[in-house]
Order: sequence, then structure tokens, then C-alpha cells
Amino acid sequence: MNTILQREEKEKLLTQKGIAIWMTGLSGSGKTTIGIALEKELHSKGLLTQILDGDIIREGINKGLGFSNEERKENIRRIAEVTKLFVNCGIITICCFVSPTEEIRTIAKTIIGEKDFVEVFINASLEVCEQRDVKGLYTKARKGEIKDFTGINAPYEVPMHPAIEIRTNEKSEEDCVKMILEYLERHN
Ligand code: ADX
Repeated sequence: MNTILQREEKEKLLTQKGIAIWMTGLSGSGKTTIGIALEKELHSKGLLTQILDGDIIREGINKGLGFSNEERKENIRRIAEVTKLFVNCGIITICCFVSPTEEIRTIAKTIIGEKDFVEVFINASLEVCEQRDVKGLYTKARKGEIKDFTGINAPYEVPMHPAIEIRTNEKSEEDCVKMILEYLERHN
């Protein structure tokens, strides 16, 4: 009988293990910046990776979803299902999403599976993110032009037990990446 190839067979082919590196943090905290740098580093070591990022996903498969709690839950539910597909292909999947509440992150962890889910708290204070204001969204949110903006008029719940916590304001990009790489090596 024909059966679908198993994850182990894909991992053997790639000589690596699938894992989801789940970056959570405020908008502008550095999730995608660290994600991109991490991907480059892993790629240069011959590992197959995929980045999933809020701004891109929300223009594609999740186009039309807003930022109410319910819509964020649906956003993350779909992303977690997609992540699971990548992880089951043996791919190191770097997920960069605000994912602001414990409930939302638990949805992701439950769908992906606890053993394949590494929670990374990209910790930059609201003050720092607001000062950076890379996309100009904090200014707009303060003026009341964006509702439900995380950190301003929607909550961000700090992760209670992240596998890794990175203070992007206190470390170089290289050191942030190193922290994740070292964790992955220890837990391989
Ligand atoms: S999540 O809360 O559902 O996980 P997601 O990571 O997909 O959010 O998208 C966050 C990105 O959308 C932010 O980096 C920012 O560029 C943009 N954005 C637009 N409106 C909001 C908002 N109300 N709250 C947070 N981010 C927003």
C-alpha cells in the first residue's frame, strides 16, 4: 500500500531535525531582524530554514485578518498549522509574530507540539520599540489612528517561561543569534 513518507525520512534526507523557533515580542522589538540573521547563519551551516513573518503572512494567506483578539487567534492558528507542515518536512521554521497573549502562544504550542516548539521572547521595552518606531505605527497608534495596537491599546503579556529571552537593546545582533544557536546545539 502507498503511504505518505514520514517526517523521519525527510529528516534523514536533509540530515537535520525539524523545529519551530517561535519569536514573540512587541512590534519593533527585533523579531524579524534576529530571524533573518539567524536564518543566514543556519543557511551558511548547510541547514534548510523557512522564515514566517507577520507582515508577509498578513499580505498573503491571512490577508483580511485584523487585530482583534479573535482575529489574532485565527491568524496564529493558521500560522501554527503551516508551521507544523514545515516542521514535519524537517525544516527549521523561524516564526516571527507578536503573538501577544499566553492563550495565543498556547494555541501555537498545542498545534505545533510542545517538543517541536521553542519559545523565544524578544524582549525590548515599549519605550525602546516606540523610540525606534521603524514603521511609524506607534506614532499613528498614539494619535488614535490604529486601534488595538499591541502595547498601546491592546495587551502584551510577557511570556512566563520562555526557552530563551533575548534583550535586543542590550546585545549585538550577532550575540542574539548566538544565544539561539547555542540553545539549538544544546537541545539537538
Ligand atoms: S499577531 O498579534 O496576530 O501575532 P502579527 O505578528 O501577525 O500580530 O502582526 C504584527 C504586525 O502587524 C506588526 O509588526 C505591525 O507591523 C503590524 N500591525 C498593524 N496593526 C497592528 C496592531 N493593531 N497591533 C499590532 N501590530 C500591528
